[in-house]
Amino acid sequence: MKVFSNIPDIRRQRWAEPLVTWGFVPTMGFLHEGHLSLVRRARQENDRVGVSIFVNPTQFNEPGDLAAYPRDTNRDLSLLKEEGVDLVWTPDPEIVYPPDYETFVEIEKVARPLEGAARPGFFRGVATVVAKLFNVFQPQRTYFGQKDAQQAVVIKRMVKDLNFNIEVVVCPTVREADGLAMSSRNANLSPPARQQATCLYRALLAAKDLFEQGERDAEELRAKMVAVIESADMARLDYVSVAHPSALEELTVIEDRALLSLAVFFDTVRLIDNMVVES
Ligand code: PAJ
Repeated sequence: MKVFSNIPDIRRQRWAEPLVTWGFVPTMGFLHEGHLSLVRRARQENDRVGVSIFVNPTQFNEPGDLAAYPRDTNRDLSLLKEEGVDLVWTPDPEIVYPPDYETFVEIEKVARPLEGAARPGFFRGVATVVAKLFNVFQPQRTYFGQKDAQQAVVIKRMVKDLNFNIEVVVCPTVREADGLAMSSRNANLSPPARQQATCLYRALLAAKDLFEQGERDAEELRAKMVAVIESADMARLDYVSVAHPSALEELTVIEDRALLSLAVFFDTVRLIDNMVVES
């Protein structure tokens, strides 16, 4: 496994064997089984696998959140080596964003609601860094998690709109045994908050249950999710949503599919989760 910080080194390795296929997994590190599931899928479907580890400053709108983001590059690299990864990019921030940097990618409609509304500038930062990562690695395929459902929609939109010649593969959410979606941020939960953090998954399951009993009024599903979150005394609800799975507009009546999603704070730690329901 080759690990580089500089772009020419990554490019040289990427093009050392011009005919092989590359799968690419972008990450911010502090890797867990969710990330590794993407790496394994990439490993199965491509000759070579590339991973980036970069805590991207432009997608954080609060300096405290960026500073608190957990990091452990040595551990990450040993996990990636065990998975048979070929190439890892661990750039310094000045390599990605030199002092004279001034170009950003903005996706319009699908980036506005949900995470886009709650975290101004977030998708501008994500899309910009992902476009740069795609240009550095030039993979045939790239792997994203359903855990960040809107991110996957936004990246697919960008790939289509900007004609990136890359297939975007979206992989299922990996959960802890008690249902909590794996996230690097889970490491920052206090022990009692960690216990209550299952309320996100329980809220989604309760709403899904209502849907499966025949409820098609989106507001009823939202109310159910709110009630479950309110039953956890350390949880502070940011939003709940029942939206169209690709347009991401809020629904009144569910036709055949909906994306249920929510964001919840435990103290300063913000968790998100989602589930797709369909008849
Ligand atoms: P990060 O949060 O490190 O996530 C990297 C990838 O892992 C994303 O595609 C995310 O959806 C996926 N992932 C995270 N938790 C998962 C889980 N429990 N199950 C399945 N997949 C999971 O998302 C980012 O980084 C950044 O925004 C990035 C795309 C790297 C741009 O900076």
